Amino acid sequence: MAATRTKGAGPDAAPACTLVVFGAYGDLTRRLLVPALYNLFRQGSLGEGFRILGVDHHSGGATGLRRHLNAFLRTLIGAGGSEGATFDPTRWEELARRIDYLSGDFEDPGAYEALGRVLTGPAVFYLATPPQFFGEIVERLGRAGLLRADAGGFRRVAIEKPFGHDLGSARTLNRRILKWVDEGQVYRIDHFMGKETVRNILALRFSNAVFEPLWNRQAIDHIQITAAETVGVEGRGAYYDRVGALRDMVPSHLFELLAMVAMEPPNSLDAEALRAERARVIAAVEIQSAAEALLNSARGQYHAGSIEGSPVAAYRRAAQVAVRSRTETYVALKLSIDTWRWAGVPFYLRTGKALAARDTEIVIQFKAAPGSLFRDTAAPRSPNRLVLQLQPQEGMELSVDIKQPGAEDSVTPVKLAFRYADAFALPAATGYEPLLYDVMTGDRTLIRSAAEIEASWRAVEPFLKAWAKDGRVHGYAAGSAGPRAADSLLARDGRAWHQLGK
Ligand code: BG6
Repeated sequence: MAATRTKGAGPDAAPACTLVVFGAYGDLTRRLLVPALYNLFRQGSLGEGFRILGVDHHSGGATGLRRHLNAFLRTLIGAGGSEGATFDPTRWEELARRIDYLSGDFEDPGAYEALGRVLTGPAVFYLATPPQFFGEIVERLGRAGLLRADAGGFRRVAIEKPFGHDLGSARTLNRRILKWVDEGQVYRIDHFMGKETVRNILALRFSNAVFEPLWNRQAIDHIQITAAETVGVEGRGAYYDRVGALRDMVPSHLFELLAMVAMEPPNSLDAEALRAERARVIAAVEIQSAAEALLNSARGQYHAGSIEGSPVAAYRRAAQVAVRSRTETYVALKLSIDTWRWAGVPFYLRTGKALAARDTEIVIQFKAAPGSLFRDTAAPRSPNRLVLQLQPQEGMELSVDIKQPGAEDSVTPVKLAFRYADAFALPAATGYEPLLYDVMTGDRTLIRSAAEIEASWRAVEPFLKAWAKDGRVHGYAAGSAGPRAADSLLARDGRAWHQLGK
């Protein structure tokens, strides 16, 4: 749809609309959505017609909500938490004046009638709520007639993760939602897709002629996808203990990284072309038998340890976590993609909490050069490796062998490195900016489709089922690189994980 640009804003300002945020007092709204909106507002991407309408069960009106958001934003941005931006109270006041509030229960039809009385024109309903409300809210919005686009406007629904907790529940949720809206109105958010470095994967692969001819089983030995965190469950024990590392991270974030790195070139950058290619490659991930799933996975849970010199208590001691919890805080998987391009190339995925370093990266490990010219070289020969560093160091590194200076013909590995921070002044960002902007402008390029989500659940389901029967969870010390069983997963193939934080 051609968006009508908003009067009085930058040339690329999103069209006028109301962002209705369900879960206005929630953590996501405070920590990520509002800081992202503030960043968009400062850079002129939200125009005069932009409004926020918070919905939650607290009382206190708009003033209460503004105060609640203001306090956090000041600490976040004032302390340079949002990538070094400084807090501009005048701009925040301008944005805060656009914030309104409606107190109501997500399950109360009266709340939707009240919403209907105050809401006019285009709107995005952002479901920043616990997942059990997703279907309910969409259905109630639908019943109240709030999802029908009126003339000249639009009505869209943005839904956070986790989208379902297995294939069956994801399908049920998709079916329930799609009774009330078209697929074109649904924006399933995966915040990894908003990260600059993740979006860069397409540019790197398809705007350079050097990589694509090598991006296949002829040249690549294997691929590693890592999302390692130093944080523990951070007050989210009640949610996390039911969900675990696999459900929390793998079918969403890690599978989107896998899709970006493994997809076929789309025939355009059009949203539907990209979504189709992402879904196609995810659907090609081999479905493992129960025995294969056990063999090709390792689960771990952290016990006490220390991270960066500070003691960290065991996961089981965290608030709202069962004292005998068997929930995994770490998972490693070995997957295969059954396509002409990737047959025989293992994809190793790992993610975990309370690890030695925060490190999200993709490692493309190339095969060793053939021949034996440098066989007798003193230093061990190291096959080329491309590391895409997604966060917190944003950049990439290609390791190559060069001749060791001196009389002898021996080689030594060196790194060709690029860091975003050296080349660009990246604007303050939480990663939600492009996603919020896209929902408002109607661009679904970075948005997950029902097919992507269902194919992801289908591929991880064998692991969930196998673990339900054989629940081995290995311990690892907080501050380590994860359980030894995860190292064995690669060691038995003669490989090793790329060191965290390197
Ligand atoms: C969220 C998970 O989706 O992603 C969290 O629920 C995790 O458990 C977070 O910490 C990681 O995101 P980021 O952007 O901090 O790497």
